[in-house]
Amino acid sequence: MKSSALNQYYKINLNPQTSIAFSEKGFREINLNSELNFNYLDFIDNDLFIGNKVLLVKNLLNASILLGIKKWHLFDVESSNDDLVPGIDPEKNKDYQNYCWGLLSSFITTGATPLVAEYLYEKFLADGSDLIANHYKEIKIEEGPHQKLCKLDLKELGVDYQKIFSLYTFEKEDSLVKYFWKLAKSKEPLSTLGYAYALEKTALIFNTPKKIIATKDLLGSKDSAIRCLMAHSSNSHEKEHVEDSLRLISTLSIRSITEIAKATLETSSKMHNPFLRIKKL
Ligand SMILES: [Fe+2]
Ligand SMILES: [Fe+2]
Repeated sequence: MKSSALNQYYKINLNPQTSIAFSEKGFREINLNSELNFNYLDFIDNDLFIGNKVLLVKNLLNASILLGIKKWHLFDVESSNDDLVPGIDPEKNKDYQNYCWGLLSSFITTGATPLVAEYLYEKFLADGSDLIANHYKEIKIEEGPHQKLCKLDLKELGVDYQKIFSLYTFEKEDSLVKYFWKLAKSKEPLSTLGYAYALEKTALIFNTPKKIIATKDLLGSKDSAIRCLMAHSSNSHEKEHVEDSLRLISTLSIRSITEIAKATLETSSKMHNPFLRIKKL
């Protein structure tokens, strides 16, 4: 019984263009129209027999992240920003400039997280859902100091973030924050867990020990300006956040899990959308 559950694939439609099949073992993108006869079960039934639901949910959400990235592979758009960061030595190379832009990006998203988490803590507490409320309280406590880390890094690198935010608009980050609030105020506010999962898991994937060493080399004498990066690296608390979140999501209804997966895909897609740019105001 156990091995058949392990091999059982479920199908889910995440948006009009994206359907996936997933099991406790893996996932694949499918075309629902041409694969109707496959032995996939619809992921809509709360009475499904699932051996390891955490593993199943993990595969579903990781597939959602990857499909959000893959969506843009066909578009050949130059996504990097050509402008120099005011306050940074123009002799510094493009990687250095991009690191500064990345910090400014994190400054925006890390600023929103404790505010949305506070809003949802109050909301779920008022609804009598203490367990969920406490999860958001934890997010607020853990994520609250992260914007300060970005501020310290930016200060050390000589980047005047207030000046930059008065000169530039950050379309991607603004759209992410707007989407986060939209989810929080929607009929399924638990879908914000999909937003958080996409951001945290993506950080874990990319912020490897190798990247930290390369960044320190890049920054030279200012190599302590990696506080924000360290807080979101694969060796950081983010790993526990992702695991805690998966455990919680696995206890939710199939309907909520489905909405969370849709939000994970949409968040990942926004994060990698090359058409959303940093623009001069
Ligand atoms: Fe964070
Ligand atoms: Fe986190």
